[in-house]
Amino acid sequence: MAERIRVLLSEEEVDKRIREIAGKINRDYAGRAVHLICILKGGVFFTCELAKRLTVPVSLDFMSVSSYGSGTESSGVVKIVKDLDQPLEGKEVLIVEDIIDSGRTLAYLIDLLQKRNPKSIRLCTLLDKPERRVKKQVTVDYTCFTIPDEFVVGYGLDYDQKYRNLPYIGVVEQQ
Ligand code: IMP
Ligand code: MG
Repeated sequence: MAERIRVLLSEEEVDKRIREIAGKINRDYAGRAVHLICILKGGVFFTCELAKRLTVPVSLDFMSVSSYGSGTESSGVVKIVKDLDQPLEGKEVLIVEDIIDSGRTLAYLIDLLQKRNPKSIRLCTLLDKPERRVKKQVTVDYTCFTIPDEFVVGYGLDYDQKYRNLPYIGVVEQQ
């Protein structure tokens, strides 16, 4: 079936909002260093754009987890595909995600990372779909956009591994 992508958030809107959130993080972490944890693959575009706009000292690490099959529904099973390279002991950790949907991935990850004794853990997401939340205990510290319950792609987000490279956020429409 052919898909059409309807623009939900333009490249300009996303860029503007990332600058605002970066400004807030710079103020909140003033005088401290932040250790960004990029959740692959979806978080990579957002992490790069955000990191470029941070003025506090930044270190970066990457983790790859899989919680979805090739469809659009959460399987509820979180698997670590690639773990972090560096320890978290004493670090001010900021997890950077593309989207928080059911919250299952993050609930699992936060529990896991907390055991590694970071000084703090905060969560930053490009998109949040609060209507879909199953894990209510997941609280987001920095959200760029709250969106309705629609399946979106672009800016790192995929549909069956496609469309990650779109410079905007779009909704997949079957036609
Ligand atoms: P959660 O565990 O249900 O919160 O799912 C989080 C992960 O599901 C995200 O990191 C995405 O990889 C994927 N996901 C959830 N909603 C969407 C969507 O609308 N488009 C693309 N991927 C999504
Ligand atoms: Mg993801």
